[in-house]
Amino acid sequence: MSKITKILKFLPPEVAHHVALSSLNLIYKLGLTAVFFKKPKNEKVNFLNLKFKNKLGIAAGLDKNGDYFNALGSLGFGFIEIGTVTPLPQPGNSRPRIFRFFSEGAIVNRLGFNNKGLQHMIKNLEKRKYDGVLGINIGANKNSEGNKRVNDYIDCFCALHKYADYITINISSPNTPNLRDFHNKDNLEFLLQSINEEKLKLGYKKPIFLKISPDEDNELILNVVSLVKKYNFDALIATNTTTDKSLLKNNPDLDGGLSGKPLFKKSNELIMYIKSIDPEINIVGVGGIFNKDDFQEKLRAGAALAQIYTSFIIDGPSVINKILD
Ligand SMILES: Cc1cc2nc3c(=O)[nH]c(=O)nc-3n(C[C@H](O)[C@H](O)[C@H](O)COP(=O)(O)O)c2cc1C
Repeated sequence: MSKITKILKFLPPEVAHHVALSSLNLIYKLGLTAVFFKKPKNEKVNFLNLKFKNKLGIAAGLDKNGDYFNALGSLGFGFIEIGTVTPLPQPGNSRPRIFRFFSEGAIVNRLGFNNKGLQHMIKNLEKRKYDGVLGINIGANKNSEGNKRVNDYIDCFCALHKYADYITINISSPNTPNLRDFHNKDNLEFLLQSINEEKLKLGYKKPIFLKISPDEDNELILNVVSLVKKYNFDALIATNTTTDKSLLKNNPDLDGGLSGKPLFKKSNELIMYIKSIDPEINIVGVGGIFNKDDFQEKLRAGAALAQIYTSFIIDGPSVINKILD
């Protein structure tokens, strides 16, 4: 781990996040990325008619507003997913809302889709220099209720589809009340059907992914798989964070979603379960990858591509080479 990553550990989590990404952006703008970071080799992976530089991406949530994707792309990720963005800007939950557990390789967060809204993201997307695969992860505003939540996804999809190489429908954040109810059959059918109709109207041909929770029971997952097929969604992203904090040593009494090492086994088990239902389904695997063995195990479980978040926060950009070399 670099000295800078060690220093960042002593800063409050959101300050560290801002300092790290702003520094990365500065290094990128000065054209010094190659001086500070070793880029992995390009592998050229074809998946869903997109050309990925390798199979490792940065997961949604790190660059919620698309402020840093040009800089992140220069580090050698195979793809970048930005968001979750909602139609309107919103502040998210009150602080503290990120808790790091360095010795366990874990984070609990209850950010609650803090983001600057889709108009801000569009301004950033219009300045795109990054030439790799860029996914945009979309969500609903906390204050939208009932069918308005579905409209929020549609609004984001309509406004952002032309900038994205793929779109992710995120129904799995545990920090927006009742968002995970979209895993229920009728709610999900209405959402996927509405998005599919919009896709046909817009003539959108690029992939759409659905990001799911690791905490749902098998029956709901069976329905998710059949609806994803019925409405021609292209892949599942498995998984978001878990609400099961008993996976941490002291089972802390904290609201929010747990990510990192304690999530690894649980998210892999879900990938294997989905593959056992439908071996053909495409999966992007995320949850607890810290090294090459974890990465390969995620692929062996059935993921075609993988993403990281927590290991990038805890170990810094050097983790990319640790995983890919
Ligand atoms: C601080 C934090 C914020 C996150 N924000 C989002 C988000 O906005 N949208 C999303 O789909 N996932 C979000 N995630 C979940 C990650 O994308 C990922 O699915 C999860 O952390 C598991 O991967 P990991 O173990 O490599 O961190 C967030 C995770 C963390 C730790």
